[in-house]
Order: sequence, then structure tokens, then C-alpha cells
Amino acid sequence: MTGTAEPRRLLLAPSILTADFARLGEQIRAVEPYIDWLHLDVMDGHYVPNITFGPDVVAAINDACELPLHVHLMINDPADYAPQFVRAGADRISFHPEVTDDPGRVIGVIRDAGAGAGIAVHPDRGLEPVEKWVEELEVVLMMTVRPGFGGQEFLAEVVPKISDATALVTEANANAAIEVDGGVKLGNVERVVEAGGRIIVAGSAIFDGRDPVAAARGMRAKLDELAATVV
Ligand code: DX5
Ligand code: ZN
Repeated sequence: MTGTAEPRRLLLAPSILTADFARLGEQIRAVEPYIDWLHLDVMDGHYVPNITFGPDVVAAINDACELPLHVHLMINDPADYAPQFVRAGADRISFHPEVTDDPGRVIGVIRDAGAGAGIAVHPDRGLEPVEKWVEELEVVLMMTVRPGFGGQEFLAEVVPKISDATALVTEANANAAIEVDGGVKLGNVERVVEAGGRIIVAGSAIFDGRDPVAAARGMRAKLDELAATVV
């Protein structure tokens, strides 16, 4: 390691959950210069009490921008649907391991379909599945709200678990990135980064206000400033 190493970029991955769906393409393209990934929340009305969108909308988003797409499946049968989302353009797919007896099979289906796999960690769940499968994961998605809705308040009690996940990945010498999802705003993102978050999902922080571009630019600047503090 030399003293001249470039600071590592912190990635911004807005969730479109609270965007204006009637103007989705336009809103995504407006923030595209400031962001790194899109985070697409798929809900089935079973794993969570809400329904969002499916592969056709993901394909339309894929056509509307150049951004890589991370599909966060909050559904009961991720192995059945993951290949359709990969065909629609998903570069990475995360799922909740508690929906299945065999998370390893779901990871295999996602990877065989051609995407990177992620395990999503519900705020009330532990890191055991991450520990077991970490070497096969591209991302560990630490949830700081209970899945189901955008615009909820950040659960600060999850922060120590983000640090634990970071330590687990480091100790395993694995490549999985820690992504943090739920209620992240300018006021709490520093704690998230300190705990090891390197991909920051921000939904309502970007799309709830009147000016998503200004919000994206503001979060981009904050992440670039914080990047100087991490290795
Ligand atoms: C919650 C989703 C999140 C989330 C992000 O079920 O997984 O991606 O809503 O949006 P904000 O930042 O508004 O919590
Ligand atoms: Zn999400």
C-alpha cells in the first residue's frame, strides 16, 4: 500500500421506489450522471405487504439508461423468477434467504443466469446465511428498514450488524461489497460508511423532494467527501 493510493469511490445506488412512475425514464436519466447503479425493489405481495413491478419494467428501465441494475427481490420464490430478471437486464440480484430451505440453490440459479448474487439481510435476521455463502456473493445487502415500503426511518440499531458483516467479509477474504438499504440520508450516511457500507441505496432522499437532480448531486458530493476517509 502506498500513500498515493486513490481513495476508493463510494457508490450511489438510488432506489426508484418513490420516484414519479409516470415520468420514470426522464427521472432516471436526469440523475444518471451522479449515480453508479440503480436499485430496483421487486415486491410480490407475499414476502412483503406491497406489490411493485416485474421484469417488463426492469427491461424498460434497462433500455432507458446505461446504468447497471441491482434487482432486490422481496419475493417468496426468487429462484423461479431470477432468470427472467436477468434476461430483462439485471446485473445483480439479491434475495432474502429466509424464504427458502436452500439459499445455495438460489445463488446458483442467479449466477448460472449470468448475474452477481446478493443476500439481503432483514433488520430482524442474523448474518448466518451470509457467513455460510459469503464466497459466492457479489454483494451483502444490509437492510436498515423493514422491507416493504420506501420512505421509512433508518433503523440505527442495525449499524453494529453492518460492522459485523464488514468484518465477516474481511475475515473471509471475500470480495462481496456491503450495500446499505433503507432510510439513508445526508445526515446518517457517514455512520453507514464508517460501519463499512460501500454501496449506498437512497430512495426517498433522492426522489421524494421537488428536485431529484439537486438531491443526487448533494449525495454524490457527500460520498466523494467521505471516500477520502475510507480505504
Ligand atoms: C424497502 C426497499 C428499499 C428502500 C429504499 O423495502 O428495499 O430499497 O425503500 O428507499 P428509502 O431510501 O426511501 O428507504
Ligand atoms: Zn431495496
